Amino acid sequence: MKIIIINGPNLNLLGKREPDVYGNQDFDSYFAQLKANHSNVTLEYFQSNIEGEIINKLQETGFSYDGIILNAAAYTHTSVGIGDAVKAIATPVVEVHISNTFSREEFRHHSYISAHARGVILGFGLKSYELALLSFTNP
Ligand code: DQA
Repeated sequence: MKIIIINGPNLNLLGKREPDVYGNQDFDSYFAQLKANHSNVTLEYFQSNIEGEIINKLQETGFSYDGIILNAAAYTHTSVGIGDAVKAIATPVVEVHISNTFSREEFRHHSYISAHARGVILGFGLKSYELALLSFTNP
């Protein structure tokens, strides 16, 4: 099974960025743990701060991979283009957020992605990614 995690803007700063909201762990070390604990899955990771690069990666992987775990970060709330890309591709997408976006500012309550996603997991910290992964491996 081939799965990719796609992370959007500012998620390269995890561990340093607002640790009270996003925790103290950087994503590379979390990803290494996740890979080790799910060695039966071919797991890849891509991060970009650039909207078009996220769309390109969705198109590249969206007709051949078994699953996409997408945290589009701030673009979740702004990007019709990423929402359209999720709608356009064949690979199922699970939308993930580290924080509970519904307990935060109003502008974080809307997602252009959710309507086209297989499901949404949010609010469980970095564990949200593992829960999304389990939705593919232990459906
Ligand atoms: C986030 C929530 C977004 O509102 C925010 O812009 C992010 C991260 C999360 O994982 O909790 O950058 O997607």
